[in-house]
Amino acid sequence: MTPAIAIQHLTKFYRRFRAIDDISFEVAPGEFFGFLGPNGAGKTTTISVVTGLANYQRGRVSVLGHDVRRDYRLARAQIGLVPQEFNFDPFLSAEQILTFEAGYFGLLREEARKRAHELLNLFGLWDKRREGYKKLSGGMKRRLLIARALMHQPKILILDEPTAGVDLELRYWLWDFIRELNQKGTTIFLTTHYIEEAEKLCSRIGVIHQGKIVALEPTENLIRTMSGEEVEFYLKNKITERPKELESLSLIYEDGGKKLRFEDKGDAISKVLKALCHRGTEVERIGVRRPTLEDAFLKLIRKK
Ligand SMILES: Nc1ncnc2c1ncn2[C@@H]1O[C@H](COP(=O)(O)OP(=O)(O)OP(=O)(O)O)[C@@H](O)[C@H]1O
Ligand SMILES: [Mg+2]
Repeated sequence: MTPAIAIQHLTKFYRRFRAIDDISFEVAPGEFFGFLGPNGAGKTTTISVVTGLANYQRGRVSVLGHDVRRDYRLARAQIGLVPQEFNFDPFLSAEQILTFEAGYFGLLREEARKRAHELLNLFGLWDKRREGYKKLSGGMKRRLLIARALMHQPKILILDEPTAGVDLELRYWLWDFIRELNQKGTTIFLTTHYIEEAEKLCSRIGVIHQGKIVALEPTENLIRTMSGEEVEFYLKNKITERPKELESLSLIYEDGGKKLRFEDKGDAISKVLKALCHRGTEVERIGVRRPTLEDAFLKLIRKK
């Protein structure tokens, strides 16, 4: 099957600075892929290359089999891009922003008008259709960015931090909306700093750090391989000295020594129990916390 997005040994420099350093990965058609990484990691740069907005020095990049350089138009036509920054023409109304976009992709005028009206309604922007984008609130601008990306009904939707600065209700609505698009067959490529959002939505995650791919796995695997469950021991009486034999476990002592927190790795639980028993300290209650993608992400980035 032809990948929706195929990136092979991509390297990109900004002058002397290597922003992307030999990355390779594919996104399958119909996939919901999350592309995560700290500020400046290279997410937007990668997206710019995939959408033909930025040049690159080495590698091959194709979209549904179309090379982004050689077949620029065909490759670009497959993608709806929701950029990180607002890049609207300040002289156009919301409706014109949508219909002009359709022009780039060859929609006929009547078709474009119909589609624009549909999307203005869907995104709750109908009343604002005659306003310039500067008169829209931040959340409305985000919605307009997404509506614009969908004008030509692309097979692939690339969203670069679509929920930045978006209120909770709109965020939930957007999640449902994007999930539904994906279920109907649209391939989704999402970047976000809300790791919880990626955990909820994405079936597979790529993590980029300083221009290199440092993880590429199904979401569940990434969570499980990066961190074990966290165990909390609530003690009947506080321990006053930290057991020497537990030093290797990096225990966290909380609540003045009445609570112990550690990762369930190897024989950690039995070691801690033994040490406590040896000191005559009783455990009152045990809590277990399932690790999240955020735990895995932080660990991965800190390790680097
Ligand atoms: N036009 C440019 N000219 C020079 N350097 C750039 C340019 N655009 C990005 N960079 C640099 O490339 C690196 C990657 O930037 P990029 O925007 O891809 O990061 P990002 O992962 O999208 O970060 P963020 O989460 O902050 O959006 C950064 O060090 C950035 O300063
Ligand atoms: Mg970015």
